[in-house]
Amino acid sequence: MLRIANALEAQLREAMQRAFPEVDALLDPQLAPASKPEFGDFQANGALPLAKPLKQAPRQIAGAIVEALQVDPAFTDLCLEPQIAGPGFINLTIRPERLAAEVSARLGDPRLGVPEVQNDAAVVVDFSSPNIAKEMHVGHLRSTIIGDSLARVLEFRGHRVLRLNHVGDWGTQFGMLITHLKQVAPETLNRADAVDLGDLVAFYREAKKRFDDDEAFQTTSREEVVKLQSGDPVSLKAWGLLCDQSRREFQKIYDRLDIRLSERGESFYNPYLASVLSGLQEAGLLVTDDGAECVFLEGVNGKDGKPLPVIVRKSDGGFNYATTDLAAIRYRFALASDGDGAHRVIYVTDAGQANHFAGVFQVAKRANWIPEGGRLEHVPFGLVQGEDGKKLKTRSGDTVRLRDLLDEAVERSEADLRRRLEEEGREEDESFIEHVAGTVGLAAVKYADLSQNRITNYQFSFDRMLALQGNTAPYLLYAVVRIAGIARKGGDLEAEAGMLQFSEPQEWSLVRELLKFDAVIAEVEEELLPNRLCSYLFELSQVFNRFYDQVPVLKAESTSLSSRLALCRLTADTLKSGLGLLGIATLERM
Ligand code: ARG
Repeated sequence: MLRIANALEAQLREAMQRAFPEVDALLDPQLAPASKPEFGDFQANGALPLAKPLKQAPRQIAGAIVEALQVDPAFTDLCLEPQIAGPGFINLTIRPERLAAEVSARLGDPRLGVPEVQNDAAVVVDFSSPNIAKEMHVGHLRSTIIGDSLARVLEFRGHRVLRLNHVGDWGTQFGMLITHLKQVAPETLNRADAVDLGDLVAFYREAKKRFDDDEAFQTTSREEVVKLQSGDPVSLKAWGLLCDQSRREFQKIYDRLDIRLSERGESFYNPYLASVLSGLQEAGLLVTDDGAECVFLEGVNGKDGKPLPVIVRKSDGGFNYATTDLAAIRYRFALASDGDGAHRVIYVTDAGQANHFAGVFQVAKRANWIPEGGRLEHVPFGLVQGEDGKKLKTRSGDTVRLRDLLDEAVERSEADLRRRLEEEGREEDESFIEHVAGTVGLAAVKYADLSQNRITNYQFSFDRMLALQGNTAPYLLYAVVRIAGIARKGGDLEAEAGMLQFSEPQEWSLVRELLKFDAVIAEVEEELLPNRLCSYLFELSQVFNRFYDQVPVLKAESTSLSSRLALCRLTADTLKSGLGLLGIATLERM
């Protein structure tokens, strides 16, 4: 109801101006959704703050605003007579025929009432971003799922979204890894398919151990990094092969999860690192401290009470993670001819990196690298825990591999499905079982993650995420299936609905719930919390189920039939679209 809310807000503002021109600068309608359905659709609290300046009782002020509203035909067309409640709230109820007209307008509108932004500037969503030669872990899975959903919402709103995979492909790990592989498995550095990621991770562990224990190895590794970073062709080739192998493994996970990403790793910014230093120098921010180049932060002190530094060049001359992120910020905000032309850059990582981003953002701001109106936002999330509240581990205590985790979700969902089919005495072929189990299993993993407030740690539980009841993917998917079932039972969901007419309270509840979709999308776009969309879809499914259980649809009289079918259709479209924005595919039968 964004459009209605905007119109109403403007009408209220004008009415207030007519009633109280003497306090024009103070007028604010304070329009909000009604706190309870019995109060109508909206409430305007703008009378209360005027009591003091006008030296009048707020109820009296509210009365004058209402009187001014009532002379505006656009208002009386839109709302029933306003009610003044409590100390001076104005309760507003949209006319039923206007609500019905909104529903009609959304039928067959692929945007479901969500306005499309007109903005050429890009939005960067930096997400997933695993590290080459290391296993992608559950933290990266959270980033992947949350980042993809935010990107989908922003795309749906009409933004030009750059989905960037900022893979760790340039650090000291390559010095160690290449040095080690040259000695123990040189063939891996020449052939594209000589190792898979599993071996690579094992090699990485061995290399790390040698690096920590063996000084000579350390020196060679450091030299190797310098060679690589200065473009030595042999090192570069080895590096390229290692990246390819990791990339192939990462891609398998992305394909399975239906996630699109453009890889632009840390190495991409290598040519821009030197100018980060000179830029900071010019801005007068750079300080040499103990041989390292740093910027001292304002308002962020260490334990000793002294300001903490962001180090941009280590004493050995190497650049680091922060330097790369600073170069990336400049590139992303640069005009499209020299960079990405972004106006908003969003980073999806675990909350453990909050200080890193706060530091880097502050440095970029003080260096004047953020254009007017440009937004840098860290979207942090909590840890994934096992059901015991500890770090998620396999039974044998190893870190959980993503591939295994997704496999298990699908296997369990298949077992659940076979049990259910058996109970219901249903026969289905294997391709149906495979399709449903695959869709539900992955949907469950995604939805369980997205439906949590991302800031809190989240306990991973296959049983909970696969349950048919509660705020779960299977529950929502089932609502969609139920509506598809109406069509199978002869209800023509695509029929021209004509003038919609509703009489039952359950119908009106469903109408009002359906019309909230656009506001929820706008909220997620702003606050970057996908769980708000999940809660909405869950609520919508519940309201729909109540409607469908209590109000006859297929057995309704013909005038009600078409209106009720229209509600079913819009519910299905809204659920499908909403789940789609969470990266979740729906089913016709399950
Ligand atoms: N590679 C990092 C990690 O695995 C995440 C990178 C996030 N993006 C960024 N621009 N720093 O923790």
